Amino acid sequence: MYGTLYGIGVGPGDPELLTIKAIRILKEVAHVFAAASSKNDYSLALAIVKDHLSPETTVDHLAFPMTFHSQSLESAWMANCERVLDVLRVGKDAAFITLGDPLTFSTFIYLMRKMRERLPGIMIKSVPGITSFQAAAACANLPLAEGEEAITILSGAKGGGRLKEAMQVSDNVVLMKTYRHFPEILTQIREAGLQDNCCFISRCGLEGEIVERDFGRMMEMKSPHYLSLMVIKRRGLGLLETTLLPARHSDRKKMVNRTCPHEVRYL
Ligand SMILES: C[S@@+](CC[C@H](N)C(=O)[O-])C[C@H]1O[C@@H](n2cnc3c(N)ncnc32)[C@H](O)[C@@H]1O
Repeated sequence: MYGTLYGIGVGPGDPELLTIKAIRILKEVAHVFAAASSKNDYSLALAIVKDHLSPETTVDHLAFPMTFHSQSLESAWMANCERVLDVLRVGKDAAFITLGDPLTFSTFIYLMRKMRERLPGIMIKSVPGITSFQAAAACANLPLAEGEEAITILSGAKGGGRLKEAMQVSDNVVLMKTYRHFPEILTQIREAGLQDNCCFISRCGLEGEIVERDFGRMMEMKSPHYLSLMVIKRRGLGLLETTLLPARHSDRKKMVNRTCPHEVRYL
């Protein structure tokens, strides 16, 4: 009998944003898989959960290419799927850990799809995680939506082209993956007259966290970190709090990945 695969969301960085359910399952499974870039083996998701794994747990990295090239992605995920199946086939349970939530812009979606294609009856369970934009909104004390408002969550990986369209139907937009086309995204925001209505959040809950509401200072950032997003609010930021006080500094002791070169800025 095959084991179960759990897709576990580990939150966006702060290890205290891991759910109790995630911790329980991570302690129970025999094997933990983490996605890593094909260029190096570092996994932030693994750094977040490492204190909860038992010494008997086997940890494996699944390499995946950071590309839009569908053939490369397809073959990488076929190979990764076979490696996970090798564990499940001998009756062991496995977990695939992923940043944020496993069903929100996550590599787990590729894996789950491949596993289902390969073996339709396989047992797969998703364990939700706190998404990056929920944590980012919390760290900026920025409401994501209220009352009758709508919210749209978009990827900016291919630029900000869909932003204008989204702002016409939504009161609030979360733009994920703002790192690659940041200058172009800022141009789109300015052309839509929304430069005073956006907040940029980078490395939320991690060393080097940035919360920036000033558009001029955003323009000075040439290439933000991969872990960056923006919240754009049609009706304005409605600032409930303009300064994040040093209370947050006590959290910094628990932050992972201390090698980040960026300055922590609380604006
Ligand atoms: C592949 S997606 C992962 C999304 C994740 N599954 C979630 O639920 O938030 C990667 C994008 O998530 C956002 N992200 C993830 N962690 C973040 C963090 N700690 N701070 C800011 N943005 C983050 C960034 O926009 C990044 O480019």
